[in-house]
Amino acid sequence: MTPPPKRPAGAGRGAALRRDAVAATVPVALAALLAAGGPAAAGPAHIPAGHPAARTTGSAGAGDPYFPLAGNGGYHVEHYGLTLGYDPDSGRLDGTAVLTARATQRLTRFDLDLNGLKVTRLTVDGAQAAFRRDGQELVVTPRTALPKGHRFRVTVAYNGSPEQVTDPDGSDDGWITTDDGAFVAGEPQGAMTWFPANNHPTDKSSYDFTITVPQGHTAVANGLYLGSRTAGGRTTFRWRQPEPMAAYLATATVGKFQVEQYTTRDGLKIYNAVDPREAADAAPVLKQLPSVLEWESKLFGPYPFQSAGSIVDHAPSVGYALETQSRPLYDSAPSLSTLVHESAHQWFGDSVSVTRWKDIWLNEGFATYAEWLYAEQHGGRSAQDRFDALYARPAGDALWAFPPGDPGDGENIFASPVYSRGAMVLHKLRGAVGDAAFFRVLRTWAADHRHGNGTTAQFTALAERVSGKNLDGLFHTWLLTKGKPDTP
Ligand code: TRP
Ligand code: ZN
Repeated sequence: MTPPPKRPAGAGRGAALRRDAVAATVPVALAALLAAGGPAAAGPAHIPAGHPAARTTGSAGAGDPYFPLAGNGGYHVEHYGLTLGYDPDSGRLDGTAVLTARATQRLTRFDLDLNGLKVTRLTVDGAQAAFRRDGQELVVTPRTALPKGHRFRVTVAYNGSPEQVTDPDGSDDGWITTDDGAFVAGEPQGAMTWFPANNHPTDKSSYDFTITVPQGHTAVANGLYLGSRTAGGRTTFRWRQPEPMAAYLATATVGKFQVEQYTTRDGLKIYNAVDPREAADAAPVLKQLPSVLEWESKLFGPYPFQSAGSIVDHAPSVGYALETQSRPLYDSAPSLSTLVHESAHQWFGDSVSVTRWKDIWLNEGFATYAEWLYAEQHGGRSAQDRFDALYARPAGDALWAFPPGDPGDGENIFASPVYSRGAMVLHKLRGAVGDAAFFRVLRTWAADHRHGNGTTAQFTALAERVSGKNLDGLFHTWLLTKGKPDTP
């Protein structure tokens, strides 16, 4: 596999783009198009509907057609307590995960997602539970059924050498080892490579991390840094992510890092960890983080988390950055526009998460448009100029291969129609409703779905409500129709 292009180009990294089967050129009611493919609470295929087991068994997936086994039905995880030990020399991970969850139906059995690794012990509410492995499903049968509404605690002890997963588009995510530790990035599927999870963005939870690594290494996770302790040649780092977080945004990146901590004028706690090999290039960009977040707060509303920062790793094989919650993760020193992009994801993607992967333009189109806006307002190229340059691409260009609102499958979720054409949708919206209404739409979106989830249909309805305009034609053409629109 050739490494994917760096994210800022937004050029997409999928190999052959698959033409999807949706006949989007035929006019279809906007609502009907948007409704297709939503999550459905489907039981496992082998259990006939109506059979009692279908009603008390949590489903093996969250109902997302792009990643059918990702996530699980029947419960919601409120909190993950992850205690990890990692040895970069041997690549061995020792973990204990304590999940506090609530049953959303009566459960005689439920699934977690876990890929690889060996489970050595599993309890539910303190009692040993039966479990088996079935691909990425960790199937748990508690000793007694969990009543609907019951809050329960699952403790999973596990170990082994975590292995990255390869996504449908050929890129790697999950626990990706580096020459001095691990670059840990879970979008879209990789969380399950290092902890048992309800691995879908619709299930958001708070997290505590306790991570032990050899002295001299640093383990960086999300949220607030609670301190570290060194004993016997090993250092334990503690982190807390109090606001809800999707599993794919969790990290526990390990390396030899230079660490910097400070509090901004607004009282935001910043923690930066930088690989020394990237430090010289990273420094001038990281210095801008407070002003970028301040600028984005003016545009999008209050920054959604209590902490911020950056992890700048040296991971040349990775080829992308990830908006890990509160503290984006870079595979090398980022450009300013990449920092702007990952920071914008804190509102669009992290605080407001997708409901299904099909809606990924709500993350990538928005973060890309934030780059355009930043340049425009800081003496750079105008958004119109970027739009025009993209529109000038010929009809056969990959940019027009599928509509941003309907990538077709998981292979396409990081390709250029999602990023660049997704940003073009927002630019068209801005032109149609004017700046005042446009920025009100963005702020209302971030506020109404803060720490939750949203769908494309909810966004288009909001844009119409806030602007008082019928935008069906615009969204139909730019968001949902395959091929290059006839007029810019
Ligand atoms: N969401 C990332 C960004 O745009 C990109 C990304 C996440 C990615 N996971 C990936 C790119 C896997 C390629 C492969 O900031
Ligand atoms: Zn992005």
